[in-house]
Amino acid sequence: MRIVLGVGGGIAAYKSASLLRLFTEAGHNVSVIPTEASTRFVGVATWEALSGNPVSSSVFDEVEKVNHVRLGHEADLIVVAPATADLLARAAAGQADDLLTNTLLMARGPVLFAPAMHTEMWSHPATRANVATLRSRGVLVLDPAVGRLTGKDSGAGRLPEPDEIFAAAIAAVAAGAGVPASEAAASEAAALHGKTVTITAGGTRESLDPVRFLGNRSSGKQGVALAQAALEAGARVRFIAAHMDVPAPDGVELTRVESALELREAVHRAAPGSDVLIMAAAVADFRPDRNSDTKIKKRDDGTNPVITLVRNPDILAEAVEARNAAGASGAARPSLIVGFAAETGDGTSEVLDYGRQKLARKGCELLVLNRVGTSLVFGQDSTEVTLLSPQDSAAAPAPTYTGTKTEIARRILARVVRELDAAVAVP
Ligand code: CTP
Repeated sequence: MRIVLGVGGGIAAYKSASLLRLFTEAGHNVSVIPTEASTRFVGVATWEALSGNPVSSSVFDEVEKVNHVRLGHEADLIVVAPATADLLARAAAGQADDLLTNTLLMARGPVLFAPAMHTEMWSHPATRANVATLRSRGVLVLDPAVGRLTGKDSGAGRLPEPDEIFAAAIAAVAAGAGVPASEAAASEAAALHGKTVTITAGGTRESLDPVRFLGNRSSGKQGVALAQAALEAGARVRFIAAHMDVPAPDGVELTRVESALELREAVHRAAPGSDVLIMAAAVADFRPDRNSDTKIKKRDDGTNPVITLVRNPDILAEAVEARNAAGASGAARPSLIVGFAAETGDGTSEVLDYGRQKLARKGCELLVLNRVGTSLVFGQDSTEVTLLSPQDSAAAPAPTYTGTKTEIARRILARVVRELDAAVAVP
């Protein structure tokens, strides 16, 4: 996961180097944001070398990357260690006077503070009030350890040991902690307000005759989960449903389609008026070249009928092309197009390669890659996906999520919100 490690200006800053190590050795991608004051204790070079990522304290470095927005939104977890009395005060007040406090205000995931200060500072009513404020907002503030402090004094105020902070941080993410459920729901509820999201779902059926068709195993569950997550986030949802094993959700503008060509029509109508298009439908790549008006009969001479298939258009690629052609100015809609891919392969890297090739071929902004292995994705309630984007890099690799289709849908929608926000933030 992506972790932001904020480092406050206290002598215990050196201990955060061990904490950083624990995170990176566990395979996490850590961006360190030291406060200006903390660099008097541990220099930027240490953080850059240990994290492998560029490090800055200021919002005025790499302005074009709008780092506080990017880091805050992308972080699955923010850990501040050591959290000084000053940092707790600034965070509680919602101040945004350096890169770390700006990033804290942009956070969507759990936030954990590991305080370190003298006992008097920790027990001062001002600090107590700031800690209470942060905790009431769902921020996790650890209690400092008791023991030897900077000088000869001892008491409550020592930074908890790095392995304790590490364990608390990982537990916080596992528990989905950090933001109280009600607050998370409230913030997500507003996230897509005023936006229109078109979602295709289910599997197309390509008619052979009045009673037969060529179909696929798509259940429509992922599309339904996406629609529900978009509704939860306050979006207006246009739902284009091919064949599904589950009912369409209440509250969507529903268009029912049967074949790939009907789905194409519906997408062409809905997409230009939408902010986001999510192509979760399993679209048949081929259809019979003719649809018999009457039932195809067994032949008396015993010969087998031959069905000739012709290619269906690639609806996703067409939607991207149409949007790009309309939007020389960059204002064309949908500004975000999300594709899906179910791939098989001999290994994870092979599946990822296929996914990346598909992302490039289709030209969409995000591709939800499902690895179809021995256990089929179709119809199952739980799944694992990797979210591919053309912006993926070694420093910011594509995230992989495992969970129910509802959980995956919320992850995808959270990413959609981030991409839309980032598009607004970067002119
Ligand atoms: N899709 C589409 N039109 C098609 C086929 C697929 O819009 N005729 C969309 C699907 O909705 C999905 C994405 O394209 O979002 C990927 O579908 P997939 O079947 O995996 O891709 P294909 O381009 O058909 O590639 P492959 O050769 O691997 O089947």
